[in-house]
Amino acid sequence: MNATITLLPGDGIGPEIVAEARRVLEAVAKRHEHTFTFHEGLIGGCAIDAHETALPEETLGLCLSADAVLLGAVGGPRWSDPKAAVRPEQGLLALRKAMGVFANLRPVQVLDALVDASPLRPERVRGVDILIVRELTGGLYFGQPQGPEVIDGRRAAVDTLRYKEDEIRRVVQLAFDLARTRRKKLTSVDKANVLASSRLWREITHEIAAGYPDVECEDILVDACAMFLINRPADFDVIVTENMFGDILSDEASMITGSLGMLPSASLGLPGMPGLYEPIHGSAPDIAGQGIANPLATLLSSAMLLRSSLGLKKEAAHLEAAVNRVLGRGARTADIARSGEPVIGTRQMGQCVIDALSEV
Ligand code: IPM
Ligand code: MG
Repeated sequence: MNATITLLPGDGIGPEIVAEARRVLEAVAKRHEHTFTFHEGLIGGCAIDAHETALPEETLGLCLSADAVLLGAVGGPRWSDPKAAVRPEQGLLALRKAMGVFANLRPVQVLDALVDASPLRPERVRGVDILIVRELTGGLYFGQPQGPEVIDGRRAAVDTLRYKEDEIRRVVQLAFDLARTRRKKLTSVDKANVLASSRLWREITHEIAAGYPDVECEDILVDACAMFLINRPADFDVIVTENMFGDILSDEASMITGSLGMLPSASLGLPGMPGLYEPIHGSAPDIAGQGIANPLATLLSSAMLLRSSLGLKKEAAHLEAAVNRVLGRGARTADIARSGEPVIGTRQMGQCVIDALSEV
């Protein structure tokens, strides 16, 4: 097949990890006789530096016309002045909105080879396999009004949490469909004891549940969910929740695995539209440019890209198997190594995966 993939390396470690993803995707294409054409665009801090906007028109055009988009990370201390007129994160939010990617899929799996990397006890984390489905284009991130205000001569600020029923329905429905392909359990997370938007979320979830009698569905309040993720993570299958809760819970869940550097994500919109794939970790400015960042979350995001946007299931499984094989043999970047274990860098890890691809 011929596919066009837009790469958005972004800031910090973004360029290093996306470079490895490109090499690995090229190896997959060669091996399976596909042709991938890559375009690169600026987003985030580097785009602010070059064009004074976090999402240049040209970048958006490259994303909307591609089959899929792979992003590294945006942001860093250089652009984090709270008084700055434009922030790198605005580029990412505008891109999600413009691409219409309303469902953010964040799988959290504890691989047997990495059980020891978790800060939780091995018996608690072994076999954890959670899929967090986070609503991505609504809620507090986008509600209007938003911004600073002056009330009675004093500084104030407002954010708005609003959900419309269609926004809830499409993401919850997708989560039910995904649960059906897995262990058939769906946990919907809300704060229905306090928030009106959560009560609507719950009402709609129950309406949809009626059409999925084969899927076990439960509601959990977000504070309780934060607790259960630590003391019984293996009980969860698919978790669906609104934008802000999903942001927070997915970072928490990532720590079950012990490394943020391992977790991929896919953001999907309507069928036929390009998906946006990114590691869930940030730009890690403290280690940027040193060649030590873990590229595996980006490689696993590339596997999700192959599967969900290009329909290349066999190729995706091949890449995931290569990553598992490399980990099984003990290859470790610094973030997933135990003390005393030898560590390799970003490029070497990418090369190990490329080598493993050619083994089977
Ligand atoms: C994430 C990030 C983003 C978010 C930031 C960078 C805007 O934390 O993808 O989880 O909050 O969505
Ligand atoms: Mg986040």
